[in-house]
Order: sequence, then C-alpha cells, then structure tokens
Amino acid sequence: MKGILLAGGHGSRLYPITLGTSKQLLPVYDKPLIYYPLSVLMLAGIREVQIISTPDDLGSFQRLLGDGSALGMFLSYAIQDRPRGLAESFLIAADHIGNESVALVLGDNIFHGPGFARLLQSKVRDVQGCVLFGYPVSDPERYGIGEVDDQGTLVSLVEKPERPRSNLAVTGLYLYDNDIVDIAKNLKPSARGELEITDVNQVYLERGRAELVSLGRGFVWLDAGTHDALTEAGQYVQILEHRQGVRIACIEEIAWRMGFIDREACLKLGGRLAASPYGQYVLDVATAE
Ligand code: G1P
Repeated sequence: MKGILLAGGHGSRLYPITLGTSKQLLPVYDKPLIYYPLSVLMLAGIREVQIISTPDDLGSFQRLLGDGSALGMFLSYAIQDRPRGLAESFLIAADHIGNESVALVLGDNIFHGPGFARLLQSKVRDVQGCVLFGYPVSDPERYGIGEVDDQGTLVSLVEKPERPRSNLAVTGLYLYDNDIVDIAKNLKPSARGELEITDVNQVYLERGRAELVSLGRGFVWLDAGTHDALTEAGQYVQILEHRQGVRIACIEEIAWRMGFIDREACLKLGGRLAASPYGQYVLDVATAE
C-alpha cells in the first residue's frame, strides 16, 4: 500500500500564524504537526509516501524530512498549486499510486489511542473498496458525517451537514483500493469548485463498498485547524508525554520499532537532535533495548 500525506491549503483559519509558514509545520508541543499524520502511515507499515503541498511550502517539508531514507522510508513530493479539493490528491499522486491500494491522511489530523497501530495494520492488509474511520464529535456541522444503521453498516455520507443525522465525523484518514484513481478522474467539482473527498466516498458507498470503522469514545482524534484546536492539541500531547514519559508520534522511535531502521540509524537520528529533550528521548529509545 502507498501513502499520501496532504499538507496543502492556506491555513487561513490560523491567520496570521500561517501567513509566513505552512500550518503543517507549526509546533504541536514538541514536534511539527506533520509528524502526527506521518506517524499514522508509518504505524500502518506504509513506507512509500508522497507529500503534497503548495509551491511555497514544499521546500520546507523537503528540508524537514528529506527523501525519508534516514527513517527507512521513501518520501516523494508533489505540488498542489491551488486548493482544488482533497480528492485532487489522487490525480496528483496517480503515478505514485500505480496499481496499488492507497492511504490518504490529512496533514492536520492527530490520532492517538490504544490498539490503533494493530487496527490500522489489520485494515490495510487487504483493502476492498474504501475504509473510513468515524469519531463522535460535538460539532458535526464542521465535518463530513457518516450515518450507520443498527448493524454498524454505513448508510449515508454528508459533507458539513446543516442538520446532521449523526455525530460520527469522518476523520481525515482514508484507505482505498486501486479503483480510487478512476473514481477521482471522473469526479466533477462541487458547488465550491473543489473535488470533494466525500463525493469519492459516496461513489464507494453507492457501490456497496464503503466501510466506516468507529473509533469510539476512548480514542483521541484532534485536528489542529484553528487557534484553539492547535493549542488544545499541544496541551493534550504535553500532558500525556509528561505523565507517561513516552512521546507521541516520535517518527524516529516508530521507524526503529517498526523495523524500518536499525539501532545505529536510530542513534544517528537522535544524535542530530541531542540538544533537545526530544533528541535525548530518541537516544534513550535506541539504547534502552
Ligand atoms: C475535511 C473533509 C471532511 C473531514 C475533515 C476531517 O474537511 O472534507 O469530510 O471530516 O476533513 O478533518 P476540512 O477540514 O477540509 O474542512
């Protein structure tokens, strides 16, 4: 399975912070926001990831993450020159996807919860159709919303409904089989002129090939798209990291634990960052076992 990480957009709800930099480079406590969605793909076992961003910001992501080889990954980069919708990423990344299945993760989404890596790994193994992940929220009008019947079968999907029929938000992590490329090619822009991810998912739903996996209330899903959401996400990470002494979405640790890199490579990554507590943690992780 291939991965796509969409880190585009103007981040206008975060102005003026995002006038000079990309939203996905902003700090969420001790690391840039993009580490969180990247770690989701890594935990799923995906090593080939295309990062899509704006012409202005792409170079910053390349400086931050390079070609991924230090993490045992294969990172490539592509440009979305204007925000033409999340689903455009499948057209931009068509060559990258090739004839494989693909996971798309949005660059401002943070997932954290028990058993998440195992759940992901079981879902990516053999994707038939599309797999969406639902999460109960208090403000459903802000999200794509899924409605499920008594058996948990997905029955409807609506983007930012005025009168939501459920509180299950469709989170920014989507798994698709290879039909996605053709489906994206045949999409028409919505009223706001964008290729909507919800329209893609609707096609799968109409074909009876869309699954919504409910993440449940014990799970944490945050987006960092507003000033409050960004601050709250940082506070959540800070509290948990202080309390447990582990770090969330530490990509160096994940690369090491997933077997993408060996101990020596992990030590090298930690050594480069050793002036910060984050770097010390990476060194500790690599020397502990
Ligand atoms: C997008 C999707 C929406 C989804 C959300 C998750 O919305 O269109 O369906 O629930 O991401 O973060 P946006 O944040 O681009 O408004």
